[in-house]
Amino acid sequence: MRAAYIETTGGLDVLKIGEQPKPKPGPNDVLIRVHASCLDRVHVYAREGSHGMKSVPKPYIAGQDMAGEIVEIGAGAAATYPDLKIGASVVALGGGAHAEFAVAPAVMTFPLPPNLDFAQAAAIPTAGRTAYQSLIHRARIAPGEDVLVVAGGSGVGSFGIQIARATGCRVITTVGGQEKMAKALEAGAHAAIDHYKEDVAARVKALTGGAGVHAVLDHVGTATWESSFAAMRPFGRFVTTGVTAGHKAELHLGQLFTKGVELHGIGRPDPAQNRKALGGLLTLVERGQVRPIIHASFPLEKIAEAHQLMESSAFFGKIVLTL
Ligand SMILES: NC(=O)c1ccc[n+]([C@@H]2O[C@H](COP(=O)([O-])OP(=O)(O)OC[C@H]3O[C@@H](n4cnc5c(N)ncnc54)[C@H](OP(=O)(O)O)[C@@H]3O)[C@@H](O)[C@H]2O)c1
Repeated sequence: MRAAYIETTGGLDVLKIGEQPKPKPGPNDVLIRVHASCLDRVHVYAREGSHGMKSVPKPYIAGQDMAGEIVEIGAGAAATYPDLKIGASVVALGGGAHAEFAVAPAVMTFPLPPNLDFAQAAAIPTAGRTAYQSLIHRARIAPGEDVLVVAGGSGVGSFGIQIARATGCRVITTVGGQEKMAKALEAGAHAAIDHYKEDVAARVKALTGGAGVHAVLDHVGTATWESSFAAMRPFGRFVTTGVTAGHKAELHLGQLFTKGVELHGIGRPDPAQNRKALGGLLTLVERGQVRPIIHASFPLEKIAEAHQLMESSAFFGKIVLTL
């Protein structure tokens, strides 16, 4: 089968397109003919061998998110999920999705939402599930609360803005540059702050009458930790899901206990928790309350261009790959 893969870590030139063996589904899996997938930041890390991704076994076909048709079903999967049938159009969270065929566990395979095409659906699972789990299951955001979504132009952030808005929260987001600020407001944020030019904590305080936000979704790490933490009100909930710009942070324990805040990681949720999160998000998508924001779409053959765009951060939302 045709696939994008790497045999070693490095620059854009290590990305190859060529033949790789077609994967076989296990008893609780489905095999999907992939029509679309997407790029997540972790694929850049895997290619570079950065952020702890150096030892990924090679050849490595990246891609967790896929939308396409089921071509094979494991016996256990067919018994547990009778709605999953050969020929059914689905969206799934699995592995090796930058290829013509990929395997996903049945528990993470859902019917294609009727209002989406394959490219739109493929932009959802990883970024969307992460934002939903962070805000709904970890931060437990509630209507009327103020929420800070850091780097709202990222895949995770673009879903975070919309999920918080759909929950009835007032959404403040941070982005780099004027163009992204306009897109963030269009996506549903009530206020957007330029995180490279403005004092984020001071602006958040000003926007919340001096109080700070009830919840923060941050996946940038070191670069934003201090301002994100300072932007929280007492008893605020902070969720980290990533370390794009550094994994170390200094924590003032006195501020932690006097503020009474909660610090959460997204963790490695089990399949049932993941199904609940992605299923919950797909319900919002079907209702039209959340939509995947696609910045650009590339045929799989042009995956190097997609990586280059992601590295530049000059995009808002998701970068899709089509087959
Ligand atoms: N835990 C999980 O299961 C899970 C799942 C999904 C993602 N993640 C992690 O979450 C992070 C986001 O993933 P993604 O795919 O959504 O990433 P993405 O779409 O590539 O977006 C990353 C964004 O981070 C912002 N950024 C980079 N450096 C920054 C800095 N110094 N200060 C402020 N913002 C900065 C950039 O936005 P601006 O141009 O606006 O600055 C960039 O667009 C990644 O680290 C990823 O590995 C974790």
